[in-house]
Amino acid sequence: MKEAYFKDKVIIVTGASSGIGLAACRLFGRLGAKVVMAARSFDKLCSLAPSVAPEDRVLAVRCDVSDEKDCKDLVKSAVDRFGRIDILVNNAGLSMRAMFKDLDLSVIHKLMDVNFWGTVNCTKYALPYLLESKGQVVGVISIAGYSALPARTGYSSSKYAIRGFLDTLRIEHIKDGLGVLAFAPGYTSSNVRNAALTADGSPQGETPLDEDKLMSAEDCALHLARGLEKRKSEVILTGLGRATVWAHRLFPRLTDKLTYKYIARETDSPFK
Ligand SMILES: NC(=O)c1ccc[n+]([C@@H]2O[C@H](COP(=O)([O-])OP(=O)(O)OC[C@H]3O[C@@H](n4cnc5c(N)ncnc54)[C@H](OP(=O)(O)O)[C@@H]3O)[C@@H](O)[C@H]2O)c1
Repeated sequence: MKEAYFKDKVIIVTGASSGIGLAACRLFGRLGAKVVMAARSFDKLCSLAPSVAPEDRVLAVRCDVSDEKDCKDLVKSAVDRFGRIDILVNNAGLSMRAMFKDLDLSVIHKLMDVNFWGTVNCTKYALPYLLESKGQVVGVISIAGYSALPARTGYSSSKYAIRGFLDTLRIEHIKDGLGVLAFAPGYTSSNVRNAALTADGSPQGETPLDEDKLMSAEDCALHLARGLEKRKSEVILTGLGRATVWAHRLFPRLTDKLTYKYIARETDSPFK
């Protein structure tokens, strides 16, 4: 990867207090970018910021992406501090695990608010600056944004919706030099499954997967940086992820059955 690509670029990363977002901030910091870290846990962000970049090149901002005003303020803070925005990484996200029949609808509202509206809110306010810099906007989606995952109705719906939003934005600005990247990690080791909401909206507090066997957040961040550097419009990660997306395109009903079998084998499968 060419370090020069990121040198002095101003990059906002939402969901920067953990997992893929934190790993991306640290990588961008090492590559010479000025990094704006956003998440709800402000104290945590402040304690992590020195691991991202020296004090004059990193900014921590408390931001709940589901709150439009917070997103507007996030963009203002970034511009006030660094004068421009080159890249916005809409990474903040929340998952869930429960069958729709058992689900309190507030869970789907919450996931749409954070995952979909969070992406829309931040993109809306950053867009004028991104157009000025001929910059890039990223939506961190998921394989579940191409091929639905059972017991994740709200998650899959929000990620499909983000993909539709990004694909539309890309066409609207095809002549403006704006890069729009739909970045789809496969299973990646992080806190996402612990924080995932259950049927009543309480966090799951555990993971059904062996997190040590998954892609690391650091490797995932490396793929993100490579995708940005090549100004790609789509990155789909892991062999299983790519196979799933292609199988879904070519053999959708067969993929439904294979996905059912795959999820049925999970620890505490929702089908049991
Ligand atoms: N890990 C995977 O297997 C995987 C696979 C595909 C896609 N993804 C996607 O990757 C992205 C990052 O997830 P991760 O795996 O790194 O999970 P994670 O470790 O749980 O990190 C999620 C981040 O989002 C932030 N966040 C949650 N709600 C927020 C809100 N309302 N406003 C602002 N920030 C909020 C959290 O910080 P605070 O709690 O401090 O706000 C945290 O920094 C998500 O969009 C996820 O859907 C993950």
